[in-house]
Amino acid sequence: SVNLRNRSFLKELDFTPDEWRFLLRLAAQLKAAKYTGTEVPRLTGKNIAVIFEKTSTRTRCAFEVAAHDQGAHVTFLDPVSTQLGHKESIADTARVLGRFYDALEYRGFGQEGVETLSRYAGVPVWNGLTDEWHPTQTLCDLLTMREHTVKHDNEITFAFLGDAHNNVGNSLLVGGAMMGMDVRMVAPQSRWNPDEVIKAARAIAETTGARITHTEDVGEGVRDADFLYTDVWLSMGEPKQAWDERIGLLKPYQINRGVVQATGNPAVKVMHCLPAFHDRRTKVGEEIFEHTGLDALEITDDVFESPYSIVFDQAENRMHTIKAIMVATLGA
Ligand code: CP
Ligand code: NVA
Repeated sequence: SVNLRNRSFLKELDFTPDEWRFLLRLAAQLKAAKYTGTEVPRLTGKNIAVIFEKTSTRTRCAFEVAAHDQGAHVTFLDPVSTQLGHKESIADTARVLGRFYDALEYRGFGQEGVETLSRYAGVPVWNGLTDEWHPTQTLCDLLTMREHTVKHDNEITFAFLGDAHNNVGNSLLVGGAMMGMDVRMVAPQSRWNPDEVIKAARAIAETTGARITHTEDVGEGVRDADFLYTDVWLSMGEPKQAWDERIGLLKPYQINRGVVQATGNPAVKVMHCLPAFHDRRTKVGEEIFEHTGLDALEITDDVFESPYSIVFDQAENRMHTIKAIMVATLGA
């Protein structure tokens, strides 16, 4: 009896654990329907704008493909080719686009941007990543975990290594708490989640039975984990000058063979929201690797390319889960 119609999706905390489970079930159904060629379009005639103030491959394409699969039309907007950000405020943009479109996706900087958009638009708004949260990623990650274990949600242990202070770290902590998981945030204390996020996650954990651990000790943090997860050490919007300090801090938290072994779980799976710095085949990577003499940052190439890695199954699920969010909040 969950009904999410006309709701926005700005952060994990907007939805209850029941609503999260509803979205996960819907995503699995939509994925199966696509695979069997039995998908029923529920967004026919809807117009959706996707606004990106930061770059994106997965999120943008997931929204566009999911919308097309479901019969909706999509407009892509960025600050280069629109008035947004330089000539027109978010509040004014929201009131205009809200008259044209049935829903808006927004990727921006501070969370207040997407909150403002949602306040003024008068239509559902989906957060496609802010500095603080990446909720569509979390839905994807939870579905991916379900697909790669026989355990129930509340029997799953995952360890997030690296920059636990970022959007993905915050989202996973709260998402894992929602699902009653054993959540380990493994990072130097200065990069643990902000206090208010930890507080919110702990409050949810009290109702779901989730266990939440913050530790600097990699061995303790990853022991018996079903999933290891990492993300970039410097997020979009952070100053490049911070790379050196961040690498120095987070190097011990790299996912490599040793860390995989330290789980003691031969069936452990490794996740990454992507993009990842695991080899030198990128322009930004090349610069950093040249400068530091390293060959990989948050994950080594041998683990990234190993059978432990489920990163491309995970990437695919961005589309199925984003589709579920659109159908649940906007679908007929
Ligand atoms: N994981 C993720 O959000 O990727 P993009 O930045 O490519 O959208
Ligand atoms: N933490 C990363 C996630 C990218 C999907 C960033 O914000 O750049």
